[in-house]
Amino acid sequence: MCGIVAYVGHRKASDVIIKGLKRLEYRGYDSTGIALLNGGLNIYKKKGKVAELESFLQGQNLNSQIGMGHTRWATHGEPNDENAHPHYSATKKLAIIHNGIIENYASLKQELIRKGHQFLSETDTEVFIHFIEDIQENEQCPLDEAVRLALTKVVGAYAIVVMSFEQPDMLVAARKGSPLVVGVGKGEYFMASDATPIIEYTNEVVYLNDQEIAVVDGGKLTIRNVANLPLTPYIQTVDLELEAIEKGGYEHFMLKEIFEQPRSIQDCMRGRLDSTTNRLTLGGLRDYLKKLVNADRILIVACGTSWHAGLVAEYFFEEFCRIPVEVEYASEFRYRNPVIREGDVVIAISQSGETADTLAAIDLAKSKGAIIFGICNVVGSSIPRATHAGAYTHAGPEIGVASTKAFTAQLIVLNMIALSVARNRGTITDQKYHELLVELETIPSKVEKALKLNDQIKHIAAEFQDARNFIYLGRGYNFPVALEGALKLKEISYIHAEGYPAAEMKHGPIALIDEHMPVVFIATKDSSYEKVVSNIQEVKARKGRVIAIATEGDELIRSMAEFTIEVPATNEVLMPLVSVIPLQLLSYHIAVMRGCNVDQPRNLAKSVTVE
Ligand code: AGP
Repeated sequence: MCGIVAYVGHRKASDVIIKGLKRLEYRGYDSTGIALLNGGLNIYKKKGKVAELESFLQGQNLNSQIGMGHTRWATHGEPNDENAHPHYSATKKLAIIHNGIIENYASLKQELIRKGHQFLSETDTEVFIHFIEDIQENEQCPLDEAVRLALTKVVGAYAIVVMSFEQPDMLVAARKGSPLVVGVGKGEYFMASDATPIIEYTNEVVYLNDQEIAVVDGGKLTIRNVANLPLTPYIQTVDLELEAIEKGGYEHFMLKEIFEQPRSIQDCMRGRLDSTTNRLTLGGLRDYLKKLVNADRILIVACGTSWHAGLVAEYFFEEFCRIPVEVEYASEFRYRNPVIREGDVVIAISQSGETADTLAAIDLAKSKGAIIFGICNVVGSSIPRATHAGAYTHAGPEIGVASTKAFTAQLIVLNMIALSVARNRGTITDQKYHELLVELETIPSKVEKALKLNDQIKHIAAEFQDARNFIYLGRGYNFPVALEGALKLKEISYIHAEGYPAAEMKHGPIALIDEHMPVVFIATKDSSYEKVVSNIQEVKARKGRVIAIATEGDELIRSMAEFTIEVPATNEVLMPLVSVIPLQLLSYHIAVMRGCNVDQPRNLAKSVTVE
């Protein structure tokens, strides 16, 4: 997905836009560009990061109080200068920036070429702005009307901003399937993919809904929908502080977010969990909790790390709620014809709340009559607005592409939901319920303690920074953690890594074991501990290099593994919250030692808002 920022007001537009693009670079960063009305409608764009665009702009006349910028994660057309946004229309009197995919761009392009249009790029976006201008010329209408008419014809997802040389006070923004926020300042307006580029200027925002068009013209904001129905702007105050999106002295956002986890887990439980009164209060579920309590089956849909959180939840819900749970990759679920019956409840898990596959899975499940709960971290994002109920994880903005604090916050919310449901179903004893509430309250301090292993983990990372492969193994609640550890490593260090249930090794993967293969075992004291110890023996017998995550004080594992990382003990059903911490740190340090761009790994984006 891409990042878009636009501004009109009393400030120097390029300053606001460049700074805003830097805050959005986590969304995509293979090329960037800016359009300004500085004497003419001028576009400056190139392959590379915002910093490179900034150097490219040195010496240019940037005097303009209106403009827009874009940072790209390529969908149509490789990352290069021509495919970077913004894009001109045929006459170069219009310009557009776009996050999304226009699915019928090929047919539109064919029609436009037949009319004599020529294109400089391979992108669907350039077709989009040519199409808008073609309509404006045929209909002889203002820009905002031309945009609206074009939106009645395009198929696909978009968050766009369009500007015109001939209407120098106007910005036209619209969205469908990709997020767009309008910031309302004093005599100035901002438009962006999320609130992070806006909040240092204003906390007053309007979250555009699908098929809505925001027009700022002559200092006035109006909103209507694609059907031309005028709408009253619903201005909300976003409670995001600037320091939350700064690095706070850490070298990378990812490291900051790893170390924020004691607080983010605390924030996630605040006002919701109180072991002294045995109360769990999840406001967002209130009207629908009964649907979960009476569910015949729970389907969890998610992607990536959020899918791993779903796997942990499967063990937890089945153990305590005695409700069958199925965890599905949203990208698979959405394209097969799943059987969804009355009494099925779907839980969609997403940090960004904008993942296209997860949104599509929600739509499919809704169309088949299921009740949908959303577990999201970004307030006002698309998934919370597409679901019947849900809960925010309150982990704060997660800027690093590799998800860390959002994962542990997702687990906390899922644990709290499952315990509420189990209590209501009478499938958990009061004693066990209380015991788990008390233990959950100790997790922030246990995570704090696990973070103190950072230096030891850095030392281990140095030993394996040149490894070409890794295997991660765990059983039970630690099996999804093995998958998560492997994903963390591969997505930021580019080392191939696989996670398996430890018992699976003998069904093939053990053939991979030799003296070059680092094998990370999550071997904390739990009901499958003895089995994992045997699996460690099997790997050692084949000269595999064992790195073990063990329960503190575990002499046996310490005697067996080449490296042992000892984490605080906790109930096995909550262990993923603690055992994942060293794996986050291990992947971080290996990636830094390999000179990788930890916060913006190659080929990735923070939220995949395209299919
Ligand atoms: C996690 O580290 C990855 N960046 C990625 O797998 C991510 O979890 C996935 O794209 C889902 O994103 P979401 O939680 O925002 O839906």
